[in-house]
Amino acid sequence: MTITDSELAAARSRIEAAYAPDLLAAASLKFSELITTHARSIQSENGNVLNWNHPVDNIELARQHLHTHDSLDTDPTPADLSQQDTGPQQDTGPQQDTVQEFQQLMQLMLDRGHNLQNPRYIGHQVPASLPLAGLFDAITSVTNQVMAVYEIGPWATAVELALIEMIGKEIGFTPGTFSGLVTHGGSLANLTGLLAARNLACPEFWTQGTQSQFESTPVLLVSSDAHYSVTRSAGILGIGADNIIKVPLDEQRRMQPVALKELILKSQSENQNIIAVIACACATPIGAFDPLNDIADLCEQYQLWLHVDAAHGGPTCFSKQHQHLTAGLCRADSVVFDAHKMMFMPALSAFLFFKNKAHQFSAFQQQAPYLFDPSAPEIAEYDLGLRTIECTKRANSYALWGIWSLFGKGLFADLVDITFETAQIFYSLLLQTTDFKPLHKPECNIVVFRYQPAWVQALPLEQQNLFHFQLRRQLIESGEFYIVHSVLDGQAAFRITVMNPLTTKAHLERLLETIRHKASTLQHAFPVTQQTDHCEQT
Ligand SMILES: Cc1ncc(COP(=O)(O)O)c(C=O)c1O
Repeated sequence: MTITDSELAAARSRIEAAYAPDLLAAASLKFSELITTHARSIQSENGNVLNWNHPVDNIELARQHLHTHDSLDTDPTPADLSQQDTGPQQDTGPQQDTVQEFQQLMQLMLDRGHNLQNPRYIGHQVPASLPLAGLFDAITSVTNQVMAVYEIGPWATAVELALIEMIGKEIGFTPGTFSGLVTHGGSLANLTGLLAARNLACPEFWTQGTQSQFESTPVLLVSSDAHYSVTRSAGILGIGADNIIKVPLDEQRRMQPVALKELILKSQSENQNIIAVIACACATPIGAFDPLNDIADLCEQYQLWLHVDAAHGGPTCFSKQHQHLTAGLCRADSVVFDAHKMMFMPALSAFLFFKNKAHQFSAFQQQAPYLFDPSAPEIAEYDLGLRTIECTKRANSYALWGIWSLFGKGLFADLVDITFETAQIFYSLLLQTTDFKPLHKPECNIVVFRYQPAWVQALPLEQQNLFHFQLRRQLIESGEFYIVHSVLDGQAAFRITVMNPLTTKAHLERLLETIRHKASTLQHAFPVTQQTDHCEQT
């Protein structure tokens, strides 16, 4: 079937209408109104944190909207669209309809979304991002700024390299000797850092794959609390998840250097090839910071690659009060550092640093003659696609560059200081009660705790755990608070991460009250049955 001239003209008109700057102008005004009203309402704590709806209902509603313009009859004709050429002030006709629909769709997105900016959001390690960061980030999306080679994203590249230099200095790397890259998330940054380590330890692997037959079994020595992306990396990189050797933790869940040393010696005596030692700053479960200097001493002594996952805790380096937690970070060969966690940027903007500048090219090798221009070899250094898994990569540093330029790096120290302080306040509140129990003293803004009045303690552990899961589900579905759950040493618990600097002591007191209230309504579902006396049993 061939397309007629008039159909082509109609298609052109529809495209022109969709690209019209006047439409953008009108829609932007609506956007500005809506997002501001939303921000005010969220910060004044109206409404739910999570707008809970069952996934099936949400998908159905989303699907319905995709059918709105299914019928060609209802699509605007060129004649309709030509009305739009009457000038920028026009506020009637199809353009106005589009703006109205745009407004309704935006409202739906806000109504069905998750309100991380609400101070009662105290959940995952995903922040209530700085609102203006989102506006800087919008430039990326509206004008589609990407990178791979310098010439397609000159400002994006410049911004990224400037930030790498500045953050690297904060970490304590020597200027001029280190390098880095930005990638889509901490998981990908872990994979990329470990890929570089694997390539250096097993040089034939990249070209020969498993055919290269390791002379000795490759292993990773890893904090027992490392993020699951490390295990995934071992699987993806052909090291094998079973070849992860977990280093024991102390009672505060920090890697034990003495145990690490024993494992290094054992691995070496068994002729294993240690690809890397992986430490955390901090680890996900309770936010424990490994003793980096002690670990770095061992890695230097035994000439091992040290990879530190500082996705969450890296930004402590901005804070005078908390930078001691990441002392020694600059001694790591590779460091993961997420800006979309404790620098309060919108997702995703993760940095990976290499202490030795030369290692920036160790992760990837490629032939891409259509991308890299031999007539300008000096520019190739700025073609960042050589260093990342992505080819087209979203310019995901605009937000951070904008906020840093606008407020200065002191804001990042403030955010760390305030959220860490709020976690301490929560810990103190827990200690003042008899029915709550913190499971650790927080080192950062993560606190894991249980609700255990006498009646809960009287339940078998399995029931206690189920109670925690059910209570949390009720809590989040009610929209009153958003917290997460965790399981530590077989015990289910609640876990908060203070990722909204506007969360205060009053919110946390209310959280405890709300948990108590929900527990009292849930109690009937957990009748205490006659407990078997453990002594009698044995
Ligand atoms: C310590 C740590 N590393 C890595 C990650 C993964 O980061 P991302 O979610 O950016 O992939 C997380 C996520 O919470 C984390 O806590």
